[in-house]
Amino acid sequence: MKAADIREKFLKFFESKGHTIVRSSSLVPGNDPTLLFVNSGMVQFKDVFLGTESRPYSRATTSQRSVRAGGKHNDLENVGYTARHHTFFEMLGNFSFGDYFKRDAIHYCWELLTKVYGLPADKLTVTVYQEDDEAFAIWENEIGVPKDRIIRIGDNKGARYASDNFWTMGDTGPCGPCSEVFYDHGPEIWGGPPGSPEEDGDRFIEIWNLVFMQFNRDVQGNMTKLPKQSVDTGMGLERLAAVLQHVHSNYEIDLFQTLIKAAARETDTPDLTNNSLKVIADHIRACSFLIVDGVIPGNEGRGYVLRRIVRRAIRHGYKLGRKGAFFHKLVADLVEEMGAAYPELKDAQTRVTDVLRQEEERFFETIEHGMSMLETELATLDAKGSKQLDGELAFKLHDTFGFPLDLTADVCRERGITVDEAAFDEAMARQREQARSAGKFKSAQGLDYAGTKTTFHGYENEIFDDAKVVALYVDGAPVKEAQVGQQAVVVLDHTPFYAESGGQAGDQGVLANAAVRFAVADTLKVQSDVVGHHGTIEQGTLKVGDVVKAEIDTVRRLRTARNHSATHLMHKALREVLGSHVQQKGSLVDPDKTRFDFAHNAPMTDEQIRRVEEIVNTEVLANAPGIVRVMAYDEAVKGGAMALFGEKYGDEVRVLDLGFSRELCGGTHVHRTGDIGLFKIVMEGGVAAGIRRVEAITGDNAVRFVQELDARINAASAVLKAQPSELTQRITQVQEHVKALEKELGALKSKLASNQGDELVSQAVEIGGVFVLAAQLPGADSKTLRETVDKLKDKLKNAAIVLAAVDGNKVSLIAGVTAEASKKVKAGDLVNFVAQQVGGKGGGRPDMAQAGGTEPENLASALAGVNDWVKGKL
Ligand code: ALA
Repeated sequence: MKAADIREKFLKFFESKGHTIVRSSSLVPGNDPTLLFVNSGMVQFKDVFLGTESRPYSRATTSQRSVRAGGKHNDLENVGYTARHHTFFEMLGNFSFGDYFKRDAIHYCWELLTKVYGLPADKLTVTVYQEDDEAFAIWENEIGVPKDRIIRIGDNKGARYASDNFWTMGDTGPCGPCSEVFYDHGPEIWGGPPGSPEEDGDRFIEIWNLVFMQFNRDVQGNMTKLPKQSVDTGMGLERLAAVLQHVHSNYEIDLFQTLIKAAARETDTPDLTNNSLKVIADHIRACSFLIVDGVIPGNEGRGYVLRRIVRRAIRHGYKLGRKGAFFHKLVADLVEEMGAAYPELKDAQTRVTDVLRQEEERFFETIEHGMSMLETELATLDAKGSKQLDGELAFKLHDTFGFPLDLTADVCRERGITVDEAAFDEAMARQREQARSAGKFKSAQGLDYAGTKTTFHGYENEIFDDAKVVALYVDGAPVKEAQVGQQAVVVLDHTPFYAESGGQAGDQGVLANAAVRFAVADTLKVQSDVVGHHGTIEQGTLKVGDVVKAEIDTVRRLRTARNHSATHLMHKALREVLGSHVQQKGSLVDPDKTRFDFAHNAPMTDEQIRRVEEIVNTEVLANAPGIVRVMAYDEAVKGGAMALFGEKYGDEVRVLDLGFSRELCGGTHVHRTGDIGLFKIVMEGGVAAGIRRVEAITGDNAVRFVQELDARINAASAVLKAQPSELTQRITQVQEHVKALEKELGALKSKLASNQGDELVSQAVEIGGVFVLAAQLPGADSKTLRETVDKLKDKLKNAAIVLAAVDGNKVSLIAGVTAEASKKVKAGDLVNFVAQQVGGKGGGRPDMAQAGGTEPENLASALAGVNDWVKGKL
């Protein structure tokens, strides 16, 4: 049975049992920053189990794409070395949300395995949680599994509920006892049943896990009962396929064989059992789906996990002799294999291919040098009989050639060598520290400061009355005082000025007392808690030790705050409209606008933009208060606050609840959503592969924008003498009218030309039996010229004609010669005779030729010479 059929049969089976088939969610978990990637089917239903979200169905079934790479569940290192590890896999699952419980879950499972998939019952062994007599009894009495093949597994991992048969999503969240089904691959394979000392062997393989969700575990480890008893099951598609296709390794199933063959084709590898092909086949799945879900290769967070997987695949291609980009070519094969089950993959094929190709090209620039450095070192180790690679070298490979640590470790592992990871970590930490101090220097803009930190009052106040100048800099050097007209940076002990950070622009305003006035043009951090006010002394002399009143430009601040708050609402709205793969990739908030970059693979449609505007404006109208709480980072994230990956947070964070959004944010915001006034998106575009940008405006800016739009519409309406509501209709009418006029004009022109043609007949001069005519046809286009020449030829019978028209400084020429006359006078020669005198050139057939020129001032004399020229030819 093919993997695609197994998937299909699973979903259809549960559909027939009243389950709704739900699409796989994105690999990037929505609103759950505790998790790097979705790693099982229940993740998208977490809140449904907890009772905080409801769905229109109480039974669901999915084939969920899952990734276990990076983060807590990490199988990356094992891919290519075992028969069953993958970075990407599909988990088939059925779910009950307070509907059926243990009995039905077990009955469905057995029916599907033995009746639909036809597995022999005597090949199956099951486990239950030690205390779960209920599940034991169902298996024994209702299903008929012999007692000796129902194994109880207790808390065998050292703590209460720490058991292979008690499933928890993570440290917190929904959990419960579980029952697992194992398939016996037969006595010829080493291994023992679950719970035995030989359980890690390959003979008994777990194929399905039925979790009976009944508790929620909190941070302290307390278990509270879930509102409703539920079911969450998970079966690895690849493992089941291996069983049903009678093969031992997951890589031998049909789905992988196609990809392995494709990898062999792209790397010219005849031996299909080569391990590197398995790695490449595994990695193309993970990489492609991660890109589909909006992850872009990068240097941190999810992006770095993706980069590591891509580079590991490239390294295996390199090992097989590839010296240039090849990996992206497998996307087409993957789409062929999995596109029907995952249309989103098919839709994103071009983008995925492009992103991978770019990433490959980049790495192929350095891999050669890196590999040769590593090979040299490995040869030296070999000569010395040493088994460990220096961590410093691994770091150098990382830093200079972009070799992720696991890639280096993978190369070493093939030679039985380990990497000194502690030394690698040390080198990494050292470099971070250097970068930090370099960064400090940079953010200080060369300012040397070692005094007290600035206390920031800007969340509550716009003015601070008695702020003391604790340091002063002119041209980057510390000074005791600065004079009127000088530009300076002022550090205060207290300030209401917000220094640029988290994408929000710094404040402007004034520092002043009776004697001095300093206009602040920008506010930047000198160090992380030291605020630098950049500006010019407009009056007096400012000295260290002076006490000034510090006052921000409140209008500017409020405009910025509106844009910042709107950004939070927009972020949330974009996720609702486009999907949870939308992740912030960059943002800039200033008084004029908010500019927001995010991972998404296609331009937004007009309808999607309108939806986002509607959602945000609905939140604005609800006028909900912004509520800020300061709490521990872990607590904030557990409470569902959206943390931005790649953003660095301290232990204490500010959590802002604003309308329907909850984000960690240190910026300044409006008090209530209604303060935003009006929200309008003014631009949507692409900035890089897989990254879109939206710009939006708020408050008075948005009102002005709408007014200007309105004014333009009114002006246009006035010009067209229409009501604004009829504008489109009126423009269409005008366009149609113009088209009709053009048609009419064309007809008139040719009529006019033909009249002129009639007149021209009388101007022809007979030379040796041939009528010669050289004339201008004012206002004619080249089509009219051609038609007129044809007519004149008809009328004059034996003739050589050249006609010209001038448009600006462009001369158009057409010559026509009748058959008899063309024996002596060629149209091409005739037209060229004139053309070369007006700065042009042309050509054509003996009876018809055309040319252009650029010197209309010489046209009259050129035409006047035609009669003599023809005479010379006859
Ligand atoms: N959520 C359960 C698992 O991942 C089914 O094993």
